[in-house]
Amino acid sequence: MLEFNCKNVTAHVIGEENGLNLEQEFDNFADKISHIINDLNSRKDKPGQWLQWMNLGYNEETVWFVKEYAAMVQGRFDNVLVLGIGGSALGGMAICEALLKPFWNQLSDEQRDGLPKIYFLDNIDPDQFNALLDLLDLKRTLVNVITKSGSTAETMAQFMIVKDRLEKELGDDYIRNVVATTDKHVGILRQIANEEGYKTFVIPDDVGGRFSVFSAVGLLPFALVGIDIEELMQGVKDMDLALKNTDVRHNIAAQNALIHYLMDTQKGKRLSVMMPYSSRLKYISDWYVQLWAESLGKNKDLDGNDVNIGPTPIKALGVTDQHSQIQLYNEGPNDKIINFIRIKEFDTTLDIPKIFEYTGVGYLGGKTINELLNAEAESTKVALIDYQRPNVTITLERADAYHLGQLIYMLEVQTAIAGELYHINTFNQPGVEQAKNYTYALMGRAGYEDSASALKEKMALAQ
Ligand code: PA5
Repeated sequence: MLEFNCKNVTAHVIGEENGLNLEQEFDNFADKISHIINDLNSRKDKPGQWLQWMNLGYNEETVWFVKEYAAMVQGRFDNVLVLGIGGSALGGMAICEALLKPFWNQLSDEQRDGLPKIYFLDNIDPDQFNALLDLLDLKRTLVNVITKSGSTAETMAQFMIVKDRLEKELGDDYIRNVVATTDKHVGILRQIANEEGYKTFVIPDDVGGRFSVFSAVGLLPFALVGIDIEELMQGVKDMDLALKNTDVRHNIAAQNALIHYLMDTQKGKRLSVMMPYSSRLKYISDWYVQLWAESLGKNKDLDGNDVNIGPTPIKALGVTDQHSQIQLYNEGPNDKIINFIRIKEFDTTLDIPKIFEYTGVGYLGGKTINELLNAEAESTKVALIDYQRPNVTITLERADAYHLGQLIYMLEVQTAIAGELYHINTFNQPGVEQAKNYTYALMGRAGYEDSASALKEKMALAQ
């Protein structure tokens, strides 16, 4: 199981001004946390609660169908191209980066065991998109278009471009190169998929984009590139069982949610930094930033009061950002809590040869890069303590499917519990919808004419 160490948020370690009396707080919040956990678990099967993501670990049917499809298409494609944005892309990117061999797309077919390369766009930069289209042989590319709503402008524009090219190259057979992941019934992509005859996978009801990585949204791409999705789901299930514990002292998601909430509301630590010490976990930070920001940044609470709350998430990478952001974290405003993620055992070891005897570098010879990374992580933590900066550490035994399943699911539950503590709706995103609607208006979508004229007036004022 994951290990969670939160000693460095306590007053005992970082002083009364910045630290929490955690044992006392665990007592103070014991009933509330227990109520939240019971409540989330009792509401999770009810329609309209957006808690179906808590059941995804147990969805053996999806695992089976996804594996069956992946086996069926194996060998037919050199590339998988995932079209999607936000919650439809970030979880997939994070897990692929963590679990595939590093530099996957640069490896030979043999090194990839004949499995396809994988590309996630997650943007609509024309230069990047054009370059990718030039690079890929579309005939040998499986396109997985993912959108829950079925109408997100970025994803559908990506898809329209790719579909047009595929059709020109392959004629009617192009449909064999498309697989759509979307809502079961609603949305334009569902309609197109039915009319054109695409293979489809379903994003279940009451699963929002940023909580959807363990549905077909993530599982399909993972299976296509050979990630062990059964192990991933085992990690999710084991973590789910552990997080059903209603005692805050034995529930790491509840602990970290409570720590973040108290740090924000009592100690002015409004920024939450996610800093894995592993390049493979780099995109976990991107995924976490979206999860935390869209879920917790809200202007109304559940009673309709204006609150404008939400801790600001920041992504960082160890050791890289020791030479970039740590100066600010140590000496700038004491307004952050740092989440370190550590891996106990890396897959490989790299020796540093004894080739120099100069005092300033000779000490490195005979050690390993692994030792250097660990020493730097420990030193950074101790330096933060010296400066009385709160930090927690989540440790994974290894960066494998089982532990990644645990990590991602733990952070999802942590977010849901934090949302309850803030007393807000964790699962909507009206602030995103607002800009989406303006884009529709600007691009001339029917039904948005009134917004378009109001928007033009606002834009004239702003320029
Ligand atoms: O988490 C979310 O709900 C969002 O980030 C969505 O995933 C994102 O806006 C894409 O939406 P859709 O899947 O409907 O295309």
